[in-house]
Amino acid sequence: MTEPKKPAEFFNPSQEILIDANLKDYAATYDRSIKDREGFWAEEAAHLDWFKPWDKVLDDSQKPFYKWFTGGKINIVHNAVDRHVKTWKRNKLALIWEGEPGDSKTYSYHALNREVCKFAAVLKSMGVKKGEIVTIYMPQIPELAIAMLACAKIGAAHSVVYGGFSFEALGSRIADAKSRVVLTADGGYRRGKVIDLKGIVNEALKQAPTVEVCITVKRTGHAVVMESDRDYWLHDLMSLPLTNFACETEVMDAEDPLFILYTSGTTGSPKGLVHTHGGYGVYTASTLRNVFDLKERDRYWCTADPGWITGHSYLVYGPLINGATVMMYEGAPNHPYPNRWWQMIEKYGITILYTSPTAIRGLMRFGEQWPARHNLSELRLLGSVGEPINPEAWRWYHRVIGGGRCPIMDTWWQTETGGFVITPLPTTPLKPGSATKPYFGHEVGIVDDQGKDLPAGQEGNLVLKAPWPGMARTILGDPDRYKQVYWSQYEKQGWYKAGDSARCDADGYYWIIGRTDDVIKVAGHRLGTAEIESALVSHPDVAEAAVVGIPHEVKGNAIYAFVILKAKKVGSPELAAALIEHVSKHLGAIAKPEKVEFPEILPKTRSGKIMRRVLKAKLMGQDVGDVSTLEE
Ligand code: PRX
Repeated sequence: MTEPKKPAEFFNPSQEILIDANLKDYAATYDRSIKDREGFWAEEAAHLDWFKPWDKVLDDSQKPFYKWFTGGKINIVHNAVDRHVKTWKRNKLALIWEGEPGDSKTYSYHALNREVCKFAAVLKSMGVKKGEIVTIYMPQIPELAIAMLACAKIGAAHSVVYGGFSFEALGSRIADAKSRVVLTADGGYRRGKVIDLKGIVNEALKQAPTVEVCITVKRTGHAVVMESDRDYWLHDLMSLPLTNFACETEVMDAEDPLFILYTSGTTGSPKGLVHTHGGYGVYTASTLRNVFDLKERDRYWCTADPGWITGHSYLVYGPLINGATVMMYEGAPNHPYPNRWWQMIEKYGITILYTSPTAIRGLMRFGEQWPARHNLSELRLLGSVGEPINPEAWRWYHRVIGGGRCPIMDTWWQTETGGFVITPLPTTPLKPGSATKPYFGHEVGIVDDQGKDLPAGQEGNLVLKAPWPGMARTILGDPDRYKQVYWSQYEKQGWYKAGDSARCDADGYYWIIGRTDDVIKVAGHRLGTAEIESALVSHPDVAEAAVVGIPHEVKGNAIYAFVILKAKKVGSPELAAALIEHVSKHLGAIAKPEKVEFPEILPKTRSGKIMRRVLKAKLMGQDVGDVSTLEE
């Protein structure tokens, strides 16, 4: 967010928060974490159970392929589930879930462990082995979290594909991961409608020849097509007389892959980022415990879908490793009425709410009367993630939802970072719209293209100057691309380039401005121009396409498409509508262009690269800047 013109006021933490917070002294802890980074992370790692302690905290002998806690043996599921069942926590609620139609389920840690063991035994019976990648495509139902944990328990890596993606996106991700097994559901509920997930999977599997087994959870009960030699219902497999529900948790190396998560980048197909059992577990647990100040009495709700990194780190792994009670909801925030979320906060006594600016802006539009119907007084902390939060939405969230008493943790991070990087703690004086300060162990820089540090107030590239345990280790099957995308521009300095532009003010507070590459954040969802353009080009009338993000009041950005048609085809409002539908069907509704325009030509460089920057500047009535490389 751009820094407001007048100096921002500070929102100071209340006396109660200052007394109550688990971690009170940011400055001293931060200093120590920088002076002795490895010592700091070793202490954080000691919050987890290790089958065998690590030999080395950080192995930087093959930069930028850093390794953490090498020699250590661990399994994240042992930490997220198994160890809690041996304590009083076996009776604590691990998961509270509500479906969109209003059905609900709760799982104690004991019940969660039982279901994970059963699911893991089913996977083993299907021949799933340590090291293989299982693709999961499900709605927001408990089985999604259980499936992730079941894979990790037996040492398989999961690749969760967001349930809002359509068959092309799903198919290419399954193919890249070479998954043999896919886990899905017949469907899910969204705004009262059934989303036919199994139908999408069936379509995707046509382009994914490696898949031998597809296991389906019955959620909606609508009719789906099942193939006899490939498809199984989970409930059938779970009720088979398996010899043993007590499935052992696999002993993993700290650096063994826990999951692959595909994310959109600058060019080409989405890249599968690889995260690990050890470092990722330590990092998500540490950041969540300190930033959201977890206490035993908390009921923490993260509204993210596990199909994105926020759901992985802060709906599943971070909270469960900390033995917290976490809430999950299946459907739309305003269904059937705009008070749905506020009603659930009251009903379940939620104390911490972690959500996105898009959701806040969307719900803000309905007016204060909707939250006013509910008692939100149990809330004590709020969080925001995924895109910059504009000060107006921040203030509304703080005043109307937080009753003026709940600090907002505006957390900046990425799929690549695994967890929070720039974030306040509850005790940090806040400025609306700023993600504030670096988390422990991080040195954040704002630099120019050559790597020169920029003075306070000046916008530049955001870089991370030191490694951290939660960092993605590589891109699946393409280590060179990993090196090239993140580490090549500042190779000499050894810095990680985030792909965001930002500025740091005179108080040392960071203000994120937005992506500098071809990633568009739509409603907080990360989409690549390349993926949307290739969906457009797959339409028979389209010769070429370019998409850009333009500011949108609720979604942050909306997609604007420029399409060159094939010879003899003529642009029309009907064709524009058909193309929007085409993108929705092939890639997913979240990637729908807001508008389609049919220009004669696209601005290109002499080497043939489309200059999206020029298109965007023209759309927004701005100066197009340096166009010396423009061909026409
Ligand atoms: O541009 C930043 C934006 O989201 C990008 C990362 O997207 P993704 O990998 O999908 O992860 C989203 C959830 C962590 C970043 O490069 N972003 C994320 N959080 C914030 C943000 N922009 C501003 N403020 C934030 N708090």
